Amino acid sequence: MNDKTATAKAHTNIALIKYWGKKDRELNLPTTSSLSLTLNEFYTITAVTEGKEDTLLINNMMQDPKRIHQFLDFLRQNVGDFPPLTVISRNMVPTSAGLASSASSFAALTAAVAKYNDWDLSEKELSRLARRGSGSATRSFFPGFAVWHEGTDDESSFAEALPATDLPIALVVCEIAGTVKKVSSSDGMMRAMTSPNYAAWVEESKQQFEEMQAAIAAKDLAKIGELAEKNALDMHALNLTATDRRFTYFNQMTQDILAKVKELRQAGFLAYATLDAGPNVKIITSQDQAETIQAKLKEAFPKLRLEIATPGPGFSYIKED
Ligand code: DP6
Repeated sequence: MNDKTATAKAHTNIALIKYWGKKDRELNLPTTSSLSLTLNEFYTITAVTEGKEDTLLINNMMQDPKRIHQFLDFLRQNVGDFPPLTVISRNMVPTSAGLASSASSFAALTAAVAKYNDWDLSEKELSRLARRGSGSATRSFFPGFAVWHEGTDDESSFAEALPATDLPIALVVCEIAGTVKKVSSSDGMMRAMTSPNYAAWVEESKQQFEEMQAAIAAKDLAKIGELAEKNALDMHALNLTATDRRFTYFNQMTQDILAKVKELRQAGFLAYATLDAGPNVKIITSQDQAETIQAKLKEAFPKLRLEIATPGPGFSYIKED
């Protein structure tokens, strides 16, 4: 057996304009283009080496390899054959933070497998391939802000970085212990698509996607926050109005934090909320206000775990010793 190992690192990302629906489940094509911020503090490092069968270890714990086995088979059939792999991942994404660890995980895995096989792939190609593992992974190869173009087919649905900016944006991540029954993002978005309001959200999202890029270019943090909050809250309203098993990711704490964010804003702070497939609120703010906002949240909710995140780098390969 070959003892070659390839290791890659990818950071997770938070969508400011969300991906919440698939127009093609097989190809994992989204119904909307989305826009994200890569986060410096949260990442995954993944090493792959030959094994007897595809296996997955995350933070030293054996995991069900079904999802990555399917993805590895997709790569074997579409890019080039390779032996069974042992996949060893270290996830520096707090599990309760409700940040999509599948984004950094599938991006790091795609890059590690490409390196293992000496595939000479562009970032665009890596992004397209990772999309088949998890949509949000498409955006996790790039530093700072990234856009995932929805595209119309396998070829045209990929992400790329927006021009670099020194925008002092920060995120205060509120970690609420999960008491809500988990609905996976894949299942949640399929249900949301049955909302009578879905088409209107898609339409508005198209406009918000353009406006968000303009707000980033203009370094208008308040506008970025305003657009992101509206896009996210309207996305969560789709879950509540789904005709197929409507649901919500919110719990009481979510509501209380959202009220606090509004209160902070009324008091003159730069604070806007966004949420993904879970109850946790992420507060969009500026780097110079992040610690004050963190302290205010801690004062109001002493049990809450809070972390500050800032813009992060693109993916990288890690040299084996
Ligand atoms: C709410 O990327 O986890 O975080 O493609 O089915 O794996 P799959 O979905 P996933 O969905 C992420 C949804 C989201 C919004 C976003 O990241 O854009």
